[in-house]
Amino acid sequence: MSEEGPGDDRLEDDIEQTVVRRDRFSGGPARGFLSSLADDARIFEADLAVDRAHVVMLAEQYVIDDEVAGEILAALAEIEADGHDALPEGEDVHEAIESAVIERVGEDGGKMHTARSRNDEVATCIRYRLREDLLETIATVVVARRQLVEMAADHREVVMPGYTHLQPAQPTTVGHWIASYEQALARDTGRLLDAYDRLNQNPLGSAAFAGTPFDVNRERTAELLGFEGVAENSMDASATRDFLVEVTAALANLATTLSGLAEDVIVMASKGHVELADEYASTSSIMPQKKNPDTLELVRGRTGDATAGLNGLLTNLKGQPRAYNRDLQRAGRHAWDAIDSVTESVEVAVGAVTTAEWPAETLAEAAGEGFSTATGIADLLAMRGVPFRTAHEVVARAAETLKHDENAPDYATLDAVAEEVLGDSLSAYVDRDAVERALDPAESVRTRNSRGGPAPEAVTDQLEVATDRLDSDERALQDRQDALATAAERLDSEVATYV
Ligand code: ARG
Repeated sequence: MSEEGPGDDRLEDDIEQTVVRRDRFSGGPARGFLSSLADDARIFEADLAVDRAHVVMLAEQYVIDDEVAGEILAALAEIEADGHDALPEGEDVHEAIESAVIERVGEDGGKMHTARSRNDEVATCIRYRLREDLLETIATVVVARRQLVEMAADHREVVMPGYTHLQPAQPTTVGHWIASYEQALARDTGRLLDAYDRLNQNPLGSAAFAGTPFDVNRERTAELLGFEGVAENSMDASATRDFLVEVTAALANLATTLSGLAEDVIVMASKGHVELADEYASTSSIMPQKKNPDTLELVRGRTGDATAGLNGLLTNLKGQPRAYNRDLQRAGRHAWDAIDSVTESVEVAVGAVTTAEWPAETLAEAAGEGFSTATGIADLLAMRGVPFRTAHEVVARAAETLKHDENAPDYATLDAVAEEVLGDSLSAYVDRDAVERALDPAESVRTRNSRGGPAPEAVTDQLEVATDRLDSDERALQDRQDALATAAERLDSEVATYV
């Protein structure tokens, strides 16, 4: 397209409309109702970047003069320096920035909005900002995982009770338990990275939804804004918010992981199995003896923010027709709430865990409660050829003889049930020493060195796998951070050639 392209007449009309639009509509009682300006503070910087990339591209494509581009870009620098709060009134940040540009540049400032719509603009801004936030979340999770790996390594030998249904089940270790959460957080990281890559596509240049007669270069704005590709179909690109759903769903999953961790620690604290650092505990205004795990309860509570965000988003988006509808203005807030809440929760939950004291003696004692070694005795018999189901029956009958305060049957009891069920003494299958060892929680842990199990060597192996995965996630994060930094520098230096 030539510099004096066929769009020029239309451009003049556009300027007219831009100037008068606010007087024609959006006045009266609905003015505040229509406005997203306050919420849009979140995408103020993003909008400036999107404006800059768009203006540079328009100039490169000879849609606007270099001189006009320079004036608009200079105005954008001033607007940025003044900040979001200094913007003139407007239905949203896009309109307000455009007005501020026109105030400074004059009518030519209205050329900034050539070949685009607020629809592709806002979609681009949301993706641009969410990308940054998401990388911050991923960075926080990665740091947290590194701390958990260290903590797990240090607590490989600290035996603790393991539960199912909140009932004593089998002894495990603090290291094994913590490594289990690191592994879950690794999957959460993977989901966030996946969501990032699908999010990182450029909708700009779709205009309202139906493209534009101007010769826009969408690959170029993608490059200037650090997007990895172009969201191809213009109708989908301006309408979809599925990336918000995807990110928020990944956050909801992450929050669910954290809520489980928080709940574990809350239960442990209630039994004296953990001593939280003071800064992660809270007291009661009336009961002087209390030290409550409030921070972890809030982590558990904040999971609701992510769950609510996901529900809110899906409710907002359901059944919206193509292409753009104003409902979408209320979509972003759900994702912002979720991402802020969850990112903070990662830091607090992992901070609480890594600064806590794990009282080894108390835990070891508790680890033997409720005949938690029963499975080990059954395993022992099964290793000597007794079918596991039969061995289970022997130990189950011994367990039935236990009084409320007894942790495990003695050898004589086991021997008696063996005689009953197997028709032979226990010693015909396994010697007394082995039985006594199997009844010891620490020994019980040591025997379970299957891959992924709680035996200290097995945990060492898991942590090696975890560390490799962590290293590779850190590289993936760094690559994405670098790509954004490079794009930001590129945009700055392009802008500098006009101003
Ligand atoms: N502020 C709107 C949003 O956040 C963008 C404006 C698009 N408005 C319109 N009437 N097409 O979605």
